[in-house]
Amino acid sequence: MERTVFITGATRGIGRELVKQLTALGFPVFGTGRDQDLLESLKDETGCLGATADLTDPKQVVSIYQKAQAELGHIDILINNAGLNHCKTPVPEIELEDWELQYAVNLRAPMLLSREALKEMGARKSGHIVNVVSTIAKTAQPNYSIYSAMKYGFMGFTKCLIKEAREVNVKATAVYPGGTDSDFRPESRPEYLSPESAAKMIVHCITAPDDVVVHDLTYRPMVESNF
Ligand SMILES: NC(=O)c1ccc[n+]([C@@H]2O[C@H](COP(=O)([O-])OP(=O)(O)OC[C@H]3O[C@@H](n4cnc5c(N)ncnc54)[C@H](OP(=O)(O)O)[C@@H]3O)[C@@H](O)[C@H]2O)c1
Repeated sequence: MERTVFITGATRGIGRELVKQLTALGFPVFGTGRDQDLLESLKDETGCLGATADLTDPKQVVSIYQKAQAELGHIDILINNAGLNHCKTPVPEIELEDWELQYAVNLRAPMLLSREALKEMGARKSGHIVNVVSTIAKTAQPNYSIYSAMKYGFMGFTKCLIKEAREVNVKATAVYPGGTDSDFRPESRPEYLSPESAAKMIVHCITAPDDVVVHDLTYRPMVESNF
């Protein structure tokens, strides 16, 4: 039986491509995002299940996990993919709301979902949690302080999760994609990774042989030199 997958940030970019590639491989998938129209078109195109949720609200975070679990029967693979960097702001100009938004979506929501998943998967002694971090967590750049703080935090959380999950036979992976030409930025960035390619690398982690756990995977477009 194919493993079931719950993906956040499924409406656009890397997440949308993940849904397309995983459903094409036969995985039953439940996707979430906020944009109802984009989600409905994805469901029509791929046959995936899905429902909208706003991940800034911790109650919606837990309830969308429960909904995915109910519709899929159980969750074998969680992909914490949703994320944003809505501002490139010098530190003296950062507003409180900017920190709070990025904390809620880039760090609190995936930590809560990882908790829910590890409860379920740990009890079953099988499963896989894939956390989409960023190469930003391996470097430093001016005006990226909020996004970096959240992604460095997410990296630290995931490194601990990898060790705890191992104890209950659950795989966990931290993925570090480089710049990707998705809806993440308003401008087009064709020199960066395509969302298809970025998603393909994550599919490799999920479809690795049973006796392999990929703990971290870093990849970049050739133009990127932030290492
Ligand atoms: N693009 C890059 O250069 C890059 C590089 C490294 C890492 N990453 C990481 O890769 C992941 C995917 O990014 P992407 O490039 O695919 O970005 P994207 O095209 O902007 O897609 C982001 C996804 O996150 C969802 N999302 C944002 N805020 C949300 C909220 N409050 N509640 C629920 N869902 C929300 C969006 O859904 P709606 O629009 O429907 O709300 C959308 O599906 C992110 O974690 C990002 O940090 C991206």
